[in-house]
Amino acid sequence: MSTYLLQAKGVTKIYPDGTVALKNVDFELNHGEIHGLLGENGAGKTTLTKIIYGIIRPTRGEIFVEGKNVSFRRPKDALKSGIGMVQQHFALVGSFTAFENIVLGTGVNPRGKDARLTREEIMKICEKTGLKVPLDEKVENLSLGTRQRVEILKMLYRNVKVLILDEPTSSLTPNETDELFSTLISLKEQGRSVIFITHKLKEVMQVCDRITVLRKGAVSGKINAKDSTPNMLAKMMVGRDVELVLTRRESEPGEEILKVENLVVHDNMGREAVRGVSFSLRRGEILGIAGVEGNGQTELAEALSGIRKVSSGKILLNKIDISGLTPREIRKVGAALIPEDRTKTGLILDMNLEENILLGKHRDREFLAGSFTISWTKVRNFVRKLVERFSIVAPSTLTSVRSLSGGNQQKVVVSRELSSEPTFVLACQPTRGLDVSSTEYMRNLILEMRSKGKAILLISADLDEVLQLSDRVAVMFEGRIMDIIPSKNVTRERIGLLMGGVSS
Ligand SMILES: Nc1ncnc2c1ncn2[C@@H]1O[C@H](COP(=O)(O)OP(=O)(O)OP(=O)(O)O)[C@@H](O)[C@H]1O
Ligand SMILES: [Mg+2]
Repeated sequence: MSTYLLQAKGVTKIYPDGTVALKNVDFELNHGEIHGLLGENGAGKTTLTKIIYGIIRPTRGEIFVEGKNVSFRRPKDALKSGIGMVQQHFALVGSFTAFENIVLGTGVNPRGKDARLTREEIMKICEKTGLKVPLDEKVENLSLGTRQRVEILKMLYRNVKVLILDEPTSSLTPNETDELFSTLISLKEQGRSVIFITHKLKEVMQVCDRITVLRKGAVSGKINAKDSTPNMLAKMMVGRDVELVLTRRESEPGEEILKVENLVVHDNMGREAVRGVSFSLRRGEILGIAGVEGNGQTELAEALSGIRKVSSGKILLNKIDISGLTPREIRKVGAALIPEDRTKTGLILDMNLEENILLGKHRDREFLAGSFTISWTKVRNFVRKLVERFSIVAPSTLTSVRSLSGGNQQKVVVSRELSSEPTFVLACQPTRGLDVSSTEYMRNLILEMRSKGKAILLISADLDEVLQLSDRVAVMFEGRIMDIIPSKNVTRERIGLLMGGVSS
C-alpha cells in the first residue's frame, strides 16, 4: 500500500484538438509537505492539477488518494476526498460578500440561523492559519491578494487535506507573499499538504520541501528543495542554461513623450485612488512604478488606458490631451497598452488568435479587402508573422486563446500591442505568470523597445523587475508618488521605506 497522501501514476492527457499536454506523468505528494510544481509555460502544470481536482479527466493513468484509486468526474468529487484547488484565474462571485462566497455550494444559508456558527468556524480557521479576510465586504471591492485569501479560506472551510495553488503569488505583493507562505507553513504543521505552482524559483526554494519539474508534458526532475539551486531548476525546466541576470546599459533619454499633471482618479467605491500625481516620461526611458498593490497603480494605469474616468488633471501623450479618449483613440495617438489582467481586459478568451490580434484594429486599412470587409488572409499572414516573432506556442492561428498557456496568452497581448509601433508603452505587470525563459524574453524585449526609443511606463508589483529594468523608479503610496529616484541611486531599503509611506 502506498504511503502517499496523493499519487498520480502514468497520467497522460491528450486534449480534443490533439495537443498532448501530459505524457505518462508520475507524481507523488507526501503527508505534510509543500510540493513545488515547476515548468515552462505550457509544460502541463495546470493540466495535471486540473486532473487531480476533477475538472478534466485524464486520457490515461490513475490517481490515488491515500492509496485508494479514485476517479473524479467533477471538483465536488475531489473535495469529498479532501482535495481542493485555487485556480490560476479566480472563480468568485464579485457581487457576493466574502462570507457568501465561502459558503456558496455548501448548503449553508448565509442569512439563515446556522450562519453565526459557520462564521465562528471560519473565523477560527482564519486565526489558526493567519488568513485575514473582511468577511462582509463584497468580493468585487477586494484586492487580488484578498480575493485569493477568500479562495483559500473557501477550500479550508471544506476541510481539504490537499490544497492546490496554481500560481498564487503572481498577483501578490512581497508582503502578501510572505503572509501566504506563513499560512502554507501552518497548514503543513497541521499535517496537510500543498501543491504550489509558481514561476519564481526564489519562492520555490524558500517554501517548498520537494519539487517536481515538468518539461513539455513529461517529468524532467524530482528533487528536494534544499538540494537544488536556481540554475539547476531553470535548466531542468528549459533543458538548457538560462541567463538569470539582465545587463542594462545607461540610456540617453530624448524628448518628452508623456506628461501627467496633477492627475486625480477615483476608484469603484468613489474614493480618490490617484491623488494628484505628476510625472513625465521621455523617449528611450523606462520609468518604473513600484509600490504595494492597491496604492493607486491600477487606477493610474486604467486612466492612462482610457478605461477609467479622469476626475481632474491632465495626461498629455505626444502633446495631445488623452484624458477622456477611448482606448482605441489613445492607441491611435501612439500608445501600446498592456493591461495587468490579460484575461479580463486584454483578451477575449473564447476568440481565436486572429480575432484577438485584430481587436481594435478591425478598421485598419491593412486588414480590409473592400471598404468594410475584413480580409482574413491578410489577418492570418500578419498573425503568423507575430507568432513567429514573439515565439508564441499555439497549434494554429485559429486556436481559441482560452486553450493557450498563461505565458502564451500574455505574448498574444504584447505582440498585438507592439505591432502598431507605438511611441509610448504602458506595461502593467508584463511578466506576471510567465516562466523563466519567457520572463527573460519579455524583459529583454522591454529593454529592446527602450533602445528603439520608446517611452516605457512599467508598473510592476515585482520589485526585482522594477529595479532591473527602470532608469528611474517612482514609488506610489496611498495614491501619491512619494519620490522619483534615478535607478543608479536606488537601494532596496530606500524603496522599501517609501513603499511603506516613510519618506525621509
Ligand atoms: N482546453 C485545452 N485544449 C487544448 N489544449 C490545451 C487546453 N488547455 C491547455 N492546453 C495546452 O496544453 C498544454 C499544457 O497547458 P497548461 O495550461 O497545462 O500549461 P501550464 O504548465 O499550466 O502553463 P502556464 O505556466 O503558462 O500556466 C499547452 O500546450 C496548452 O496550450
Ligand atoms: Mg498554468
